Amino acid sequence: MASGLNGGADPLRDRLAIAEKLARRAGGRAKAFFLNRDTLHPELKSASQDLVSEADRAIEAWLRGAIRKHFPDDGIVGEEEAASEGGSGFVWVIDPIDGTMPFLVGQPNWTVSLGIAREKRPVAGVIYAPMLKELYSAAEGGGAWLNGRVLTMNPDWTVASTTIGFGATQKATPGEVGAFVEALYREGGVLFRVGSGALMLAYVAANRIAGYFDPMLYCWDCWAGMILVREAGGIATFDGDLGRPGPIWAGNRHVHADLRRLSGAA
Ligand code: IPD
Ligand code: CA
Ligand code: CA
Repeated sequence: MASGLNGGADPLRDRLAIAEKLARRAGGRAKAFFLNRDTLHPELKSASQDLVSEADRAIEAWLRGAIRKHFPDDGIVGEEEAASEGGSGFVWVIDPIDGTMPFLVGQPNWTVSLGIAREKRPVAGVIYAPMLKELYSAAEGGGAWLNGRVLTMNPDWTVASTTIGFGATQKATPGEVGAFVEALYREGGVLFRVGSGALMLAYVAANRIAGYFDPMLYCWDCWAGMILVREAGGIATFDGDLGRPGPIWAGNRHVHADLRRLSGAA
């Protein structure tokens, strides 16, 4: 098991174990589409470069069916279909392919992201990157894991120690993007971007980047990544919720505070 946590009577651990299995299986299905991406028919969703294809829709439909089979009373919030309510207090927060743009142009940096909320708080998450063969996994109180190896964030890094993930798409204004980049570079920072918010949060947890800021994400982009960062010893704050997008900041306590300040939030 990738997380090193045991399943059993604990409802959260049970869900984490199933989430790991489903992320791997969904990732395998997505990889089959990826290897035949020339046959897909991408459509523009909202802002420019915000795309969707039949791969995103098929993987989400498959995930919803599999989740319902295991936990029929859980709610589901996902990117491609309307939310469905449940009565268990648990809600699955799913992004079938996070990084649709990298996926469609043949980059390996896309993920399946499965977050789990309990009473509207992020309590577990799995991020699977099939082409990188990496499974990130975390549950509240159980640590953060990458392919069975525990993740612990460097507590001493600053925004100048190594690169900072910045996720701004065309949903942000050119002025907002420019102001943040200028402020970051004035403090010795350097930008990093892979086109999957989930993967960038996983990279924060894995000490591959020092922090991450995105001016506007949805819960399905960041729910799993937030719990990964927190369980790896960092801070992740999201000014959105299960029904509303918002900005997100993640890093150790220094980097988190600095990113909030540099983005004009604090
Ligand atoms: C996108 C990615 C990207 C972020 C965008 C998201 P999608 O998700 O997470 O990194 O900057 O705001 O929309 O559309 O590839 O699932
Ligand atoms: Ca996404
Ligand atoms: Ca997506």
